[in-house]
Amino acid sequence: MGFTPTDFIWFNGKLIPWGEAKVHVLAHGLQYGTGVFEGMKSYPTADGPAIFRLDAHLERLYKSAELYDLAIPYSQATLTDASLELVRANKLEAAYLRPVAFFDAATLSVWTKECPVTVAIAAVPTGKYLANADAGVRVTVSPIRKFDNSAMPAWAKACGQYINSARAVNDAQRRGFDEALLLNSQGLVAEGSGENLFLVKDGSIVTNDKDASILMGVTRASILEIARDLGIAARISPISVEDLMTADELFFTGTAVEVTAIREIDGHVVSGGKPGPVTRRIQDTFNQAVRGQLPQYRHWLAFVRQEVGA
Ligand SMILES: Cc1ncc(COP(=O)(O)O)c(C=O)c1O
Repeated sequence: MGFTPTDFIWFNGKLIPWGEAKVHVLAHGLQYGTGVFEGMKSYPTADGPAIFRLDAHLERLYKSAELYDLAIPYSQATLTDASLELVRANKLEAAYLRPVAFFDAATLSVWTKECPVTVAIAAVPTGKYLANADAGVRVTVSPIRKFDNSAMPAWAKACGQYINSARAVNDAQRRGFDEALLLNSQGLVAEGSGENLFLVKDGSIVTNDKDASILMGVTRASILEIARDLGIAARISPISVEDLMTADELFFTGTAVEVTAIREIDGHVVSGGKPGPVTRRIQDTFNQAVRGQLPQYRHWLAFVRQEVGA
């Protein structure tokens, strides 16, 4: 998913031109990964663009920051306005937004207390995150394990934690797969490099939780609500590799991939090699919800309120 530059980036309190949003090479967040971030999307709706679950994403940003003693020097209301303003200023509709807050340059010590905090939000037009997403993706169970919550809580979305994901997905793609599925330190399924996992068995859906060393996805939570509303039974349970191999359907959820079917794991064909009926039902509902087409989910949308193309 390469990005197309836009006009403005929100940087420490104001919109500045894309090319001027730069940081020092000795930024602590660059040297040691000491930052937190979010990934969220705006979608076109009949009432103009709207950001999906902006509140939930920003709440997670502050929770992640707290864990790393990173005091974000702006209120959630300010970052909410900044996110909406950014979509407006860049005249975007379907966009991916990337808020990031990190310790900036002041020391080469590992401790962070001298470092100022820099906050930025970028927004770029949305592209497809995984190749082949519509037809379903091919994944491999990664030989690279997900870090344990006792080392770094996987429920926090911190920059440095993603070197684990990057290593796993690079390895998977080198071996010809679209995505890696990481096991946790107990050998149970954790999640994809940037997605949560669901399986479908006998018409019910199953997903794991915090204890499996996963990021508690905003999409995951939304899918659990959608499933309940559709009358699809859902169970939260640890997931083994054997559960994967005997599942009727498998799918990933996440801001970037939305709901994406898995059609193959390490050569084992899932659901006849195409998105299954339960996956498609949930996917269709999700796709309508994010575009404001279902009144019961309108409260998930933060409307940008702009004349598109103005
Ligand atoms: C490791 C990981 N798991 C799961 C997810 C899905 O989370 P969300 O649905 O909040 O985007 C993401 C993406 O943010 C992720 O990076």
